[in-house]
Parts: sequence; C-alpha cells; structure tokens
Amino acid sequence: MQEKCRLLIFCWIFARFSVNADEEFNIGTTSMAGTFPFEHLRYAIHRWNTENGAHTQITFNLTSPDYPSRNYEDRVCNLFQKGVVAIILSNEQDEKDTQLIKSMCHFHHIPCIALQATSIQDSISDFVTMIGPSRGSGARATAEFLDSMRWTSFLLAYQDGSDLEDLSPLMQYKQIAETGGRKLLIKVRRLPNNTADYEPFLKHVKTRLKQTNIIIHSNNITILYHLLDRARGLNMAEPPFSYVFTNTDLSLLEDFLNNNSPKNDPIFTCNITGLQLVKNDPMMKTQLALTSEAIYVIGMAIYRLREFGHAPRQEKLECGGHSQWVDGAILNDGIRKLKVANQLTGDVRFRPNGERDEIMYHGVGRIGNKFVKVGVGWGDF
Ligand SMILES: *[C@@H]1O[C@H](CO)[C@@H](O)[C@H](O)[C@H]1NC(C)=O
Ligand SMILES: *[C@@H]1O[C@H](CO)[C@@H](O)[C@H](O)[C@H]1NC(C)=O
Ligand SMILES: *[C@@H]1O[C@H](CO)[C@@H](O)[C@H](O)[C@H]1NC(C)=O
Ligand SMILES: *[C@@H]1O[C@H](CO)[C@@H](O)[C@H](O)[C@H]1NC(C)=O
Repeated sequence: MQEKCRLLIFCWIFARFSVNADEEFNIGTTSMAGTFPFEHLRYAIHRWNTENGAHTQITFNLTSPDYPSRNYEDRVCNLFQKGVVAIILSNEQDEKDTQLIKSMCHFHHIPCIALQATSIQDSISDFVTMIGPSRGSGARATAEFLDSMRWTSFLLAYQDGSDLEDLSPLMQYKQIAETGGRKLLIKVRRLPNNTADYEPFLKHVKTRLKQTNIIIHSNNITILYHLLDRARGLNMAEPPFSYVFTNTDLSLLEDFLNNNSPKNDPIFTCNITGLQLVKNDPMMKTQLALTSEAIYVIGMAIYRLREFGHAPRQEKLECGGHSQWVDGAILNDGIRKLKVANQLTGDVRFRPNGERDEIMYHGVGRIGNKFVKVGVGWGDF
C-alpha cells in the first residue's frame, strides 16, 4: 500500500514537472540590438537563464522587432505577433511613444515593466508595473541627507526643464528647514544646454552667486563628468566647495575623481555626496540593475504561478484583431503581488497600482579615495 502511494506521488510529481519542463518565454523590447536598453536586457536575460533557468525550468528569449520601424506601434505589433509574456519599457523613446506602448499593453493585456516613471502626471496604467523609483523620490531622499549637511544656503542646478516637477521636494526643503529654526537660502538655476558653457556657468556660481554648496540634478553621468572637470580648472574642486548629486551612478566616477595632479596631489578634495540605489558591491549601473530586477521579477512571478497551477501560456496576438492575451491579467497580478528581498536594488515589492514600494537609497560620500555609505534615505514618505 505504502509502496503504491509512493509511486503515485512520484508519478504525480513527474507528470507535473515533465509537462512544464524547460519552458522558454519571450521577453519583448522595442529597442534595437546595439542600443543600451537592448544590451542591458541581453545581460539580464543571460543572468536569469544561467542562474535560475535550471532550477526553475523557466528560460527567457529576448525578442525585438524584425525591422527598425520608426513607428512604435509597428514595433509593438511585431512583438505581439511573435508572442511575448512581457515588454520591458526603456526610456529611450519620447513621452508620446511611451504612452502609446503603455496603452497597447493595457489594451492587449500584456504586462509591461517600466524602468522609470516618465512624468509625474503619468497615469498609472493597469498593465504597467514600475521597477524603478517614482519621480521625485530621489529628491525626497536627497532632502533627508541635507539634514546632516547643516547648509545655510545652496544652489540647485538641474539639467532638463521637465526635471523641475521632480525637484519640488528639494525646493520645499526650505519650509522644512525653517520650522527647525534655520533660515535657508535656495537658488535654482538650469544648467547650460551645451557642456562648453559649463565654465562660464561655474564662474558665475562662484563669483556672482557666491555659492559653495551645490546640488546637481541630472540623470546623465557624462554631464556630471564634464561639470566636475570644469570645476577643477576653476579651483572649485577643493573646500569649501561641496557637491551633492542626485544621480545614482556617481560611484562610477571614482576612477576619474582619483586622478591626481602631475605633482601627485589629489585634485578633488571637495565634499562629494550622492545617492545610490544599487546595493551590491562592486556597484552596477542603475539602469542595468533595474533591468536585471525586471527580468527576475517576471521569472519569479511565472515560477510562483506555476507552483499554484496557473502557469501562463504564451500566445501570439494580432494587433488588428482586438485580441487580448488570456493569461495576461494573471501574470500581471502575479508580478504586482510578488515580494522578493535583498535584490540588487533592495527589497522589491509593489503597491497595488504597480508603483515600486518603499524604495530605499544609500547616501554615498567620498572619504579618502572611495565612495562609502554615509546614510540611508527613503524615497517615499
Ligand atoms: C528567440 O528570439 C529570436 C528573436 O526574436 C528568434 O529569432 C528566435 O527564434 C527565438 N528563439 C526561440 C527558441 O523561440
Ligand atoms: C560633507 O559630506 C558629509 C557626508 O558625506 C557631510 O556629513 C558633511 O556635513 C559635508 N560637509 C560639508 C561642508 O558640506
Ligand atoms: C536650453 O534649451 C531650451 C530649449 O531647447 C531652452 O528653453 C532653455 O532656455 C535652454 N537653457 C539654457 C540654460 O540656455
Ligand atoms: C549625456 O550628455 C552628453 C553630453 O552632453 C550627450 O552627448 C549624451 O547624448 C547624453 N546622453 C543621454 C543619454 O542623454
């Protein structure tokens, strides 16, 4: 009797797993080979397949449009025709195209993962889950770090006009500080469009605005590099100058900052502080980490659904036919309900509306020749 029972369990397990053995799912991207978003995805999928493919029996295949159509509707339809379980939204297309892709995900019930929010008014769509921080959370975390700086004034310089809405937590910092009894002077300026104009800009900051505490808001690490490079020529790379960067990839400039003068004196002796989202060491570029996180979340969601007997089945869709992916809602829900701890960017969980919940930043400061953790700031409150 017992023997028979054992055999039955064995057969049941065997049947369950043999049916599902090594399923390959397509992950869609509208980016073309060779672009950063595409290469990040290629890495992320390779990482999942080698680290988790064998034990989960879930592997992914990166699927991109057959031809580089300028039209994003064509690109997405092409992905739907091939059958995808999810689309990873990069930030390379403009606002209008992003909205178009999001509405197509919604209409056809294809889960989409966005690496970052495009606009503060961005209507959170039912089928879009956001793996990166929401807009303004970097500024909120920065505001927390400012408390430890005890600055009495600062200059806030930002790169893009549309960045202003992100920065309101920093501009409101004034009110927070005033209630603490300190009067704080904040000046806000836009960075020149052309890096060649950084030198006159910095001169103006030094001699006319007379600011030594400077917050730079730009998501482009090349911009930071150029700015610091110009600052060094103007003796603005030494005390009392103090810089805070909202960019989460600051540690990548470590080698550049460690360059010494011909006489072997350190050049960058000013205070340089920044935010970091990625928790592992050595640090990985934020976009790459978030892309890896997106793939991990999709993989784990499918894995858990399969454990509960709801494994999604990939399906090819036609855009014209008003077709919806039958299992799309289940997978989308599975993604949003997933909770995984200690990932590249910390604990990953989502709010019911698909936003990333409780995102935590590290403050990093340059002490000696290295960036070290100087505190923790929460992006949401
Ligand atoms: C993986 O995706 C590529 C590109 O879309 C496609 O050519 C290939 O057939 C796919 N592989 C499998 C096994 O589906
Ligand atoms: C320099 O940065 C550290 C954090 O890295 C901060 O505690 C300190 O107050 C800063 N000093 C100035 C002068 O801004
Ligand atoms: C940069 O260019 C935009 C238009 O593209 C313009 O509105 C803005 O004033 C320029 N910024 C500066 C600092 O010149
Ligand atoms: C970052 O800034 C540099 C210098 O202005 C520019 O050439 C590059 O295209 C920018 N990168 C992105 C992704 O905007």
